[in-house]
Amino acid sequence: MNARAQVRTISIPTSTPLSTIAVDVREGLSRKPKSLPPKLLYDAQGSALFEQITCLPEYYPTRTEAAILTNHADEICSRLGRNVSVGELGAGTATKTRILLRSLLRRQFHINYFPLDVSDAALQLAKDEVERELTAVNVHPQVGDFEDLTFLGMQAPPRLVLYIGSSIGNLEHNDAVSLLRNIARHLSSGDQILLGVDLVKDSSVMHAAYNDSAGITASFNKNLLVRINRELGGHFEPDAFCHVSFWNEAASRIELHLESTCLQSVRVDGLDTTLRFYQGERIHTENSYKYTVECLEELLESGGFEVEHIWTDPDCWFAVSLGVIT
Ligand code: SAH
Ligand code: AVI
Repeated sequence: MNARAQVRTISIPTSTPLSTIAVDVREGLSRKPKSLPPKLLYDAQGSALFEQITCLPEYYPTRTEAAILTNHADEICSRLGRNVSVGELGAGTATKTRILLRSLLRRQFHINYFPLDVSDAALQLAKDEVERELTAVNVHPQVGDFEDLTFLGMQAPPRLVLYIGSSIGNLEHNDAVSLLRNIARHLSSGDQILLGVDLVKDSSVMHAAYNDSAGITASFNKNLLVRINRELGGHFEPDAFCHVSFWNEAASRIELHLESTCLQSVRVDGLDTTLRFYQGERIHTENSYKYTVECLEELLESGGFEVEHIWTDPDCWFAVSLGVIT
C-alpha cells in the first residue's frame, strides 16, 4: 500500500471526554498546593485567547520564532529528508507551521500533515487555513493528548515531527525528556524533530509577556474557571480570583497562578464537592520553562536525538533546533 492510500483510512477522533477533565480537576484541586494541568487551558475559548496572546506586543515568543522560521526556512528545509511527511504536537491553529509547509512545497509536490492537539476548535482552524492556502497539503487532524502518539506511526517515512512554540516549556523537565523519548520510539533512523524553545533572557521582558497590559493573559488563565463552571457545573466567580504570574529564577520558569482574593467556598456540582480557598491561596495553572542553548542540546540528546543545528534570532531570545534519530 502506498503512503497516500495508508493515510486515507485515518478517522478524526472526537474531542476529549468530559470525564478526563473531571478526573484532572478533582485530582488537581485536592492537592496541596492546588494545581490544574495546563492542557485544560485550551477549550475553544482558551485557544481563541491564546491566539490573541500571540499577537500581543509584550508576547515576544510567537513573532520571534516566526521570524526565525521565515529567515531560515530554506536552510531548514534543505536539511530535511526527501519527501517528508509532517507530524506536529500541539499544533494549535498551525499559523507558524504554514511558513514551513510553504517552503517545503518548493522541494516536494505534496505533503501529508498530521497535526495533534487537545483543542478540536484550534485543529479545525488549522485544517481550514492550511487547506485553503496550500492545496497540495493533505491535513489529517488528530484530537488527543501527547500521551497517545500512535498517530506518528500513521506517517510514512521519512518523518519530520514539529514541536514548536516552546510548548515543551510547559512540561516539567522529566516529562519533557519522557515525551521526547516516546516520540523517538515511534521514529526510525533519519527521522527528524524541529523543536522550538524559549530562551532565558532579561526577566523584565519575560515578566511583561505574561502580564500584558490588555489583560488577555489574565483572561486566558481565568478561563480555566469558566471552563470548570460550564463543563463540570462549577460555581466559581472568576473575578474572585486574580491572575498572578512571575519569573522563578531558581527554577528557570515563568509561573502562572490564580489567587483567591478572599476566603471563599466554591461548589462544583459535577464533582459533588465544595472547595475551600483562604484569602491569597493559589491554584498553580502553568509553568513556562525557559532554556539555555546548552540545556536545549542536553534535552534533545537525553530525548534520543542527535542535534543537527540550532537557529536563534539576533537577540538570542528564542531557539529552533533540528534533531535527528541516528
Ligand atoms: N504550536 C502552536 C500552538 C501553541 S499553544 C504555536 O506555536 O503557536 C499549545 C498548544 O498545545 C495548544 O493548542 C494546546 O491545545 C496544545 N496542548 C497543550 N497540552 C497538550 C497535550 N497534553 N496534548 C495535546 N495538545 C496539547
Ligand atoms: C503554549 N505555551 C508555550 C505558552 C507559553 O508561553 O508558555 C502558553 C502561554 N501561557 C501564557 N501565555 C502563553
